[in-house]
Formats: sequence, structure tokens, C-alpha cells
Amino acid sequence: MSLFRSVMLFLPAAALLSLFVACGGGDSVNPNAPEVVEVNTFKIGAVMPLSGQTATYGEETLNGLKMVIDELSGKDDITIELVYKDNKGDSTETAKLTTQLIKIDQVDIVVGAVASTNTLKAAKVAQENGVPLMTPASTNAAITEKGDFISRICFIDPVQGSMLAQLASVDLSRSKAVIIIDSASDYSVGLQAAFSQTFIEAGGEILSVETFTAGEADFSALITKVASSGADVLFIPAYYGDVGPMLKQAGEKWAGIPIVSGDGIDSPDFYALMGDYSGDIYMSSHFSPDDTAPIVYNFVTEYTARFGKTPGAMAALGHDAGLALFDARKRAGSDEPSALRDAINGIEDLEGVTGSITINAERNADKDVVILKLSPSGAEFYKRFPHN
Ligand code: PHE
Repeated sequence: MSLFRSVMLFLPAAALLSLFVACGGGDSVNPNAPEVVEVNTFKIGAVMPLSGQTATYGEETLNGLKMVIDELSGKDDITIELVYKDNKGDSTETAKLTTQLIKIDQVDIVVGAVASTNTLKAAKVAQENGVPLMTPASTNAAITEKGDFISRICFIDPVQGSMLAQLASVDLSRSKAVIIIDSASDYSVGLQAAFSQTFIEAGGEILSVETFTAGEADFSALITKVASSGADVLFIPAYYGDVGPMLKQAGEKWAGIPIVSGDGIDSPDFYALMGDYSGDIYMSSHFSPDDTAPIVYNFVTEYTARFGKTPGAMAALGHDAGLALFDARKRAGSDEPSALRDAINGIEDLEGVTGSITINAERNADKDVVILKLSPSGAEFYKRFPHN
């Protein structure tokens, strides 16, 4: 079977009759003959973490996607079907599941993953199979370089990292940074490079780059070393499952040194993980839940009522990925892969809760970077770096 997802439904004659009656036609219907009605099913395959150290990424994305699907499915004669798989935050698993979504579930499009290292694997599989993949949230620059079937609706790390360096050097007047990364994470490595370049250009100095392994239980040696480094700012581009426990263990030892981090700590679980860490923490993200724009306000209100939690960036991006896919599917007029690809790559001025989305020539989205200041009680808007 081709990848066209038009599903032929054989309806009972009585149902058909009422359908035709409702349409005001049906003069020539033979009630005994099986008739065929075309229903457009748009099959979306999501691959993201629903368990493991980054589980809230998948949970929030799915919540956001489900909100849009409930709202839009059935409109414009497009029925949306969602299939999703738990990659457990693992890249080998991601490649395997992406292949399954394409070959076995025969999805029209893949959405995912979240962590850039995993999305790089998924993107390779999707591009090789000629099936569109849209990542809601992966920011590593190399992802969309995998080919024309690969797109994203968020900004990229060269932008995010450069804004964070401006925040550290200009807004916070810092000049001596220590950077802490997970060297196996493409996200960590890419952000470190972008931050360093801008920070040095602004006259700052990188005292050292320290590394850790994801899932490490004991950060005490690292914490002691960094505490005596003379740094006046710490840049930690890593995920909440590591940064939270690291800050909790650091406690008073890093007192007085502001922490700057990226979108990877945007998780509802971050606060519990960091315990009562009370130092200043700044994070870059894709949206601010206290934004008073009506589209954001309505989303936050509806999401909170339905899921019982304030939405984080991933929820907002999951929502916007759903919007973008529906918009593209509608304009494509079919789910033929190259038609879908072209429609996705042509997304323009689409109003989402994370801002206006236009897919640019590199298949990335130029969007504002929002800076939030975090405290044990939650995230507060700090400033916005407008996109170019
Ligand atoms: N930008 C992260 C990455 O590429 C993923 C992420 C996005 C995590 C948004 C949380 C919120 O790895």
C-alpha cells in the first residue's frame, strides 16, 4: 500500500442513505449496494520519552498535542490519528521506534523527539525513508541539516546559546564563566560552543569546561572544584534530571554565583529535584506561562484545568507542533509525503502559543528567546530577546 492515508470506509447502506439524505441528494442510491465513502485520516507518529530521566518532556508534549487534536480532528474533513512510542530517552531506541512508526504503523509524519541526540537519530531514519519529521523542541543545529524532510518549529542552539551569553555578560555583568556539560549530549556540546563564542566576543573568559555523565548520582567532586574556581557565573546547558540534583547537592556551596541554563531545565519536575536551592537561576525558553497575550492565557487556563499543572515549554511546543501539522496537512491537500513536506516547509506566520511560526530556508523557525528566572516557587518572566 502506498503512504496515502485515505481510508475507505464501507458504511452500512442505512447509514449511507441517511448521509445522502442529510446532504439533500441521494436520488439514485441503491440501498442494497455497498457504497464507498472517503475519510482522510492523517496519522501522526510521536516518538518521545515517557519514562526515564526526561519523562516530563514526553508527557507534556503529548498533553499539548492531544489538546490540539481534540480541537481540530474532524475539521476540514481531516481526521487525526495519533500513535506514540516511548523512547525512554535513549537514542538507539529512538532510531528503532522511528523505523517502526514508518514501516509498521505507516504514519504520515513523525513528531519528535525532544533531546537533540535522539532527534538526530530519528531524523536520519525519516530522511532516508522520505517521510516528513517535525521536531517540536530539539534545538541542535545539525538536525535540520539531515535533509529536506526534516523541520522544526523552534529556534536553534546557536541562537539560544548566544542569547544566554548576552544575558550573562550584559544583563548580569559577568565575565568569568565555568561551563558544565554532559559531553555525550549534542545539546550540551552545541550550546557550550555557541555560548562560549558570544561570551568571549563580549570580553568574557571561560575559566574551564567541566563534564559529567547523565544520571550521575554524586556530583560532590565537581561541586567542590567549581566552588573554588573563581567563576562569577555558571553556565549549565543540560537536562532537568541532572541539573536539579546537581543544584540540590551544591546547596550553599555555589552561593552568590548565578546559574544560567537553557530550555533543557524547563520541566515541572525541576523544582522538586533542586530541593531548596535558593541561588539565582536563569533559563532560556520558548514561552512564558505568565504571558498575558490572549492566545497564551487561554492555553494556560485550559491546560491547567485539564491536566492539573501549569504547562511548561514542551507542552506549549507540543501544542504548536499539532497546529503546524494540521495547517500543513490542510494546505497539502493530501498526505502524500512530498506534498506534506512542501506544505510544512512553507508554514508562514502561524500564530502559536510559542509565538508566530515561519519555517525559514533552513527549515528552522526564527522565534524570540524568552528568559525566565526560577525560584523554588516557579518560573517568572525576566526578559525577551526578539528574533532577528
Ligand atoms: N532543546 C532541547 C534539546 O534539543 C530539548 C528541550 C526543549 C527540552 C524544550 C525541554 C524543553 O535537546
